[in-house]
Amino acid sequence: MATPEMESRAPAASSRPWIDHWLDTLQDLTAMKADHPMMDAVIDEVEGRMIRIGDQWLADFASCNYLGFDLDPEIQAAVPEQLAAWGTHPSWSRLLGSPVLYEQIEERLTALLGCEDTLVLPTITHIHMSVIPLLAASGTIFLDARAHKTIYDGCQVARARGVAVRRFRFEDPEHLDELLGAERDRTRLVCMDGVNSMTGNAPDLPAFAEVARRHGALLYVDDAHGFGVIGERAPDELCPYGRRGNSIVRHFGETYDNVVLIGGFSKSYSSLLAFIACPTELKDLLKVAAPPYLYSGPSPVASLATVLAGFDVNERRGDALREVLYRHTKRVLDAARALGIHTPNRSGLPIVEFPLRDHTRIDSVGRLLFERGVYVTLAAYPLVPRAEVGFRVQLTAANTDEQITRLIAALTELAERGEMQPAGSVIA
Ligand SMILES: Cc1ncc(COP(=O)(O)O)c(C=O)c1O
Repeated sequence: MATPEMESRAPAASSRPWIDHWLDTLQDLTAMKADHPMMDAVIDEVEGRMIRIGDQWLADFASCNYLGFDLDPEIQAAVPEQLAAWGTHPSWSRLLGSPVLYEQIEERLTALLGCEDTLVLPTITHIHMSVIPLLAASGTIFLDARAHKTIYDGCQVARARGVAVRRFRFEDPEHLDELLGAERDRTRLVCMDGVNSMTGNAPDLPAFAEVARRHGALLYVDDAHGFGVIGERAPDELCPYGRRGNSIVRHFGETYDNVVLIGGFSKSYSSLLAFIACPTELKDLLKVAAPPYLYSGPSPVASLATVLAGFDVNERRGDALREVLYRHTKRVLDAARALGIHTPNRSGLPIVEFPLRDHTRIDSVGRLLFERGVYVTLAAYPLVPRAEVGFRVQLTAANTDEQITRLIAALTELAERGEMQPAGSVIA
């Protein structure tokens, strides 16, 4: 979540520049981390989507386990059998050898996404750091200005290998069109987020895909938050998220032509694993060229087991869970509208950010939420620009109606105290 500002400030003159520069840049965050109950917290216990920190029980709105698979008894029950079969963690890198569970996962994932092929690796961060530099070759990357920090980091690795990086404005396919039109380099990679981890909105994927294809660029999309939540549209869908949770490309009825989709299981599927959906030719190349396939330790067996069980549950109950998720989110968004408070969320997806009227109030607003038993993600500077300092709420299907009522009561109290940005605020 770090902003580019974090990395561009000049180091202070100091005998310990390696630490003082960062302590200075991160002072707001460091101060909060030191003693705020909602940062760097130790969670003592969980019960459903309630968590206990010390003596305080709180409703958890900070997890990304959108479908509640982390708490699902059927998914939990799938683990012991695989542990008995494989041990906890056979530590071969994937090139050395992969338990057959990987084959099963890739086969089922490919069918779910409706793409040519898939390759799974432990995390999205591993994928960005290794695949972005490979795909960019020695060409030019066009980077969404508000892409996730891990995409930025992948682009930094590429830059260190001689790739040029140009930024296009967030949610602005016309600006991308302009930049691509002016570019002479023939090797072009466009990197962007799918469902945005802060705003909760999906980009206009068909517009970006059209621009990328017209200019002969490969579009690389990270849909960490969309996978499992949004999916293909159908007349019999239970809610506007669509069916099957098969991610942003299918949600928009797009094709995978010139599109590489990245996603992860660590959010909706509550498992440590990530994927790249790509042509088989690229998958085969990655098997010999992507360092995490060659050298990294694999995902734990428990995660492979919960991904496979997650596919079963998704098939049978996923749409019903997404309907619950949609309903919870709608309640929160309707309440925000009625209270006249601002959130950038236009999509109805379960990531709802609430910026504060005054960024210096983040500490006390966080404490009030904690006292009211509401656990959220605090977005302090420099994780976000000062105008966007506030908190982010994530809903999951495992939250209860009572927990949503508690959240809305806390939002109401904050609105009455004048802490929230009013609706209609425009963030620069
Ligand atoms: C958009 C996005 N990409 C990547 C990541 C990192 O994923 P992973 O933990 O699989 O590296 C996150 C995590 O929050 C994310 O929100």
